[in-house]
Amino acid sequence: MKAIILVGGEGTRLRPLTYSVVKPMVPVANRPFIEHVICKLALHGIDEIVLAMGYKPDSIYAYFKDGEGLDVKLTYSLEEKPLGTAGAIKNASGHIKESVFVLNGDCFSDLDYSDMHRQHLRNKAKATIALTHVEDPTRFGVVETDASGRVLRFIEKPKWEDVTSHWINAGVYILEPDVLDYIPDNQFYMFENGVFPRLLENGAPFYAYHNRAYWIDMGTPEQYHRINSDLLLGNCSSPLHAARDLIISEGCEVHPSASLTGPVMLAEGCSVGAGARITGPAVIGRGCRIAGGAVIENSLLWEDITVAEDAIIINSIIASGAKINKGQRLQGQTINHKAPTT
Ligand code: GDD
Ligand code: MG
Repeated sequence: MKAIILVGGEGTRLRPLTYSVVKPMVPVANRPFIEHVICKLALHGIDEIVLAMGYKPDSIYAYFKDGEGLDVKLTYSLEEKPLGTAGAIKNASGHIKESVFVLNGDCFSDLDYSDMHRQHLRNKAKATIALTHVEDPTRFGVVETDASGRVLRFIEKPKWEDVTSHWINAGVYILEPDVLDYIPDNQFYMFENGVFPRLLENGAPFYAYHNRAYWIDMGTPEQYHRINSDLLLGNCSSPLHAARDLIISEGCEVHPSASLTGPVMLAEGCSVGAGARITGPAVIGRGCRIAGGAVIENSLLWEDITVAEDAIIINSIIASGAKINKGQRLQGQTINHKAPTT
């Protein structure tokens, strides 16, 4: 089966991290986020994937090329201007001849895609939407259903007083090809406030797939931090990551008096000096130099970062190339020395 993944948004809520890397490419356990999503789909037999791209597609294409080395056939659909979630799918309509998965490209889950598809077929649905249960539905699209799971109402980003359910749109849909008839050509159009309400008005068979599998939208620094920790702790799974206490890649030099308390991942070519202390969950990217006496706790360091003696980094995220000074203390910070580019 085929999936189209929406990877076109600007990712403004993930700033300042997205000043260096587009949202789909931010590293999770040292691999681009979207690679985890693609490999997860492949596990479920979804072997053709289209990336619907708009905003800064070059680095995505440069990394994945034609998908060699992945277990899927990878193609791209490019927007010249942002077309919104549904407009981007209409733009990719050449790829849609039968039922297709559509995914928000910033969501990661342990959803059973195969089971969702079986339910879609059983219901003879025109569209099926995966729902997940959250504490704060105001950041998402709330979905009301009847006892049979049929969708009754869709409320995008409701105010608290309008929240009628904690079941929200998990950003995974299965659509029949004729759902494309609801989307205008070459025009900005959204599923959330366009296609879904129209499907409901027309009484189309639109069903929900409720599930409580691990789910996250990694679109803010907090949530991005969380998916890294969850993967390291084994709270969710990816075919790209085997949760282990210590993962120390080739070319790392760890001083015998340094202490690593897992789960800790050190990518290739890192050094950890005398008496330094790293307490997981922590991911340290390629080529980071952590000097003696430094302390790193529950933090994510991207690539090529220098941490000088006795610096303390707690609950923080640091983008590539940063230099943390001797004795500097960072707590609960997200840091990128790169300025925004246009
Ligand atoms: N190709 C393309 N073109 N992709 C886009 C565009 C576009 O114009 N606009 C947004 N996207 C992609 C984003 O990159 C992201 O992967 C996905 O569509 C959703 O956009 P977000 O901006 O992250 O939306 P959201 O998180 O506020 O809300 C959406 O996701 C929630 C689940 O995380 C909605 O679908 C909510 O209903 C849902 O609950
Ligand atoms: Mg999102």
